[in-house]
Amino acid sequence: MSALFSRKKKDKTIDMKFDESLGIPKHIAIIMDGNGRWAQKRKLPRIAGHKEGMNAVKKITKVASKFGVKILTLYAFSTENWRRPDSEVKFLMKLPVDFFDSFVPDLIKENVKVNVMGYIEDLPKHTKSAVLRAIEQTKHNTGMILNFAFNYGSRSEILTATQKIAKQAIKGMLDADAITEETLSDALMTGVFSKDMRDPELLIRSSGEKRISNFLLWQIAYSELYFTNELWPDFDEHSLKRAIVSYQKRTRRFGGV
Ligand code: FPP
Repeated sequence: MSALFSRKKKDKTIDMKFDESLGIPKHIAIIMDGNGRWAQKRKLPRIAGHKEGMNAVKKITKVASKFGVKILTLYAFSTENWRRPDSEVKFLMKLPVDFFDSFVPDLIKENVKVNVMGYIEDLPKHTKSAVLRAIEQTKHNTGMILNFAFNYGSRSEILTATQKIAKQAIKGMLDADAITEETLSDALMTGVFSKDMRDPELLIRSSGEKRISNFLLWQIAYSELYFTNELWPDFDEHSLKRAIVSYQKRTRRFGGV
């Protein structure tokens, strides 16, 4: 009861502090961590935590779109997550199918466009088809981009981009001295987004861990980092408001004074 009360009190405070006119980050990236611990606390199997995590994704997508976020990048499956038990990987590969089957009509209503960054060619057929179908079904939407990092790893992404650039240089299409930060930025998976939005202004990680876990290593060079102890399935509108208020209080100097 007291925990419930203090939570409500905290929420009320954040509602008063939250002011959209102080600036909403154009691009927010989230490491959605803590599904397993959320389930464990309830003596449920880990997959129950992932299912609830999927529901949190639905809620946060709508809230971020309502706040005017332009790109929401969510770390849904890393290139390292294949190391999990087979049954959990199988469940995580089925999640996009359930997610898009049930949520694409809402995405269309909200004018949200789906993008997926990652090595989707290595996904099981049913996962890959669900992802490609959702991209196709939402391709004309002009609102927020819901960008799933799925079978994504930042070091691999940088390697792939470097190989792409090296091949161009070998073919004589590019002079090695002409390779700039922009060349690499263009060659990364986020290169499909406009230049002013491809790097997130705000990176959030739930569950209390303070690690980056091979996520957007190049793109977060100047991002504000926000860590919360909340477990991902508990992350809601108020949690996002708290992260944005924290972001708004910071002065971004990009190395200047
Ligand atoms: C990390 O929590 C979470 C994941 C590896 C999976 C993220 C997936 C979702 C949030 C579901 C939504 C996905 C889609 C495609 C809509 P963890 O399992 O590492 O938690 P733990 O650290 O507490 O064990």
